[in-house]
Amino acid sequence: MGMGARPFAAVWVEGPGARPLTRDEPPAPRALRILFLGGTGFLGPPQVEYAIARGHSVTLFNRGRTGPDLFPGVETLFGDRATPDYDALEGREWDAVIDNSASIATWVRDSTSLLKDRVGRYLYVSSLSAHSDNSFVGMKEDGPVFTHADYEQAIASGASPGAAYGPNKAEAERITLDVLGDRGLVVRPGLIVGPGDRSDRFTYWPVRIDRGGEVVAPGDGSDHVQIVDVRDLAQWMVRMVENGGSGTYNAVGPEAELDMAGMLNGIRAITSANVKLVWVPTDLLRKHEVGGWIEMPVWVYPSPDNIGFSAWDCSKAIAAGLTFRPLADTARDTLAWWKARPEDERRLRTGPSPEKEAAILADWHARNG
Ligand SMILES: NC(=O)c1ccc[n+]([C@@H]2O[C@H](COP(=O)([O-])OP(=O)(O)OC[C@H]3O[C@@H](n4cnc5c(N)ncnc54)[C@H](OP(=O)(O)O)[C@@H]3O)[C@@H](O)[C@H]2O)c1
Repeated sequence: MGMGARPFAAVWVEGPGARPLTRDEPPAPRALRILFLGGTGFLGPPQVEYAIARGHSVTLFNRGRTGPDLFPGVETLFGDRATPDYDALEGREWDAVIDNSASIATWVRDSTSLLKDRVGRYLYVSSLSAHSDNSFVGMKEDGPVFTHADYEQAIASGASPGAAYGPNKAEAERITLDVLGDRGLVVRPGLIVGPGDRSDRFTYWPVRIDRGGEVVAPGDGSDHVQIVDVRDLAQWMVRMVENGGSGTYNAVGPEAELDMAGMLNGIRAITSANVKLVWVPTDLLRKHEVGGWIEMPVWVYPSPDNIGFSAWDCSKAIAAGLTFRPLADTARDTLAWWKARPEDERRLRTGPSPEKEAAILADWHARNG
């Protein structure tokens, strides 16, 4: 066992509905001082829990607004990246920083210039949205991303951070690697899912399928999908900084190709609900003005422009140790997390309304007899 590392299975619990992690993993090579920019939202908590379980010393930096009671025993430094106010980081050093909380490039310009001589390694959490072209399947890390000119144009046009998400992420990646060189590490996740995800972008499916009855499913089931369980991603990121990783990685799963039918039938297998998936052709979905991604979660209308969306090549990350738990584990744990939420938080933010779903089903039955 590495210096300072604690026995793994004895301390590691995974979020709400905790269960011990039984996977047999080697301990951390050495105990690190890790600074998390953020740490208390969705991706942060499983990173922090895993880092502590592996014997690392953890510091969080945030405003103290999100999940302030999550880690009472963990050092938290307070500051606001928007201001920017990083005073609390002055005079400190860390072996690694994991930057979760920036989707605005100027935040990363400030934090990398402040931390470059005080941290060993800098992991920037980017996004596959940094890619500017989804028109081909199997996009690797060196595929086209939004350029500096795209970023400048987005800023000049006054686009909101949400609208300029991809250009900001791509610009922040460039800044990280320019400033940190081979001590910089960029991870581009796809759709992150699992317990704790308040966006409901995957959660909709286990919850809706568990409710039973006829469920509107999009297309013919053959459209490809990619997701990554937040715990798999979080743990791999910590191992990447332990192992001194550098460069850029696409990071979404699973390893084997997954299509919409595989995902929904896989989710169906974790409930005993009496459920029927009704595959609704895209023309009928369009007739009812169903939007992709949020109103029909995890799925987008297939088109030549986005044939590569959810078909990214993540072989580099897999070769570097990214692993994927079974879909059934993710679906079951997500449903258990949802059911344990307070009543007033159990309102799905995604998916068609029950009324709209009923109208689509009525139309589908009229067409199919
Ligand atoms: N979810 C997905 O499917 C997906 C996909 C691709 C990429 N990503 C990326 O993954 C990352 C995940 O983020 P997360 O929210 O789950 O991370 P997190 O580290 O768990 O939570 C976000 C943290 O940022 C802090 N924060 C927010 N605004 C701040 C500010 N102005 N100054 C200082 N700290 C601030 C929050 O605390 P306070 O509010 O207390 O400050 C919170 O601790 C993001 O970069 C996102 O773009 C997500």
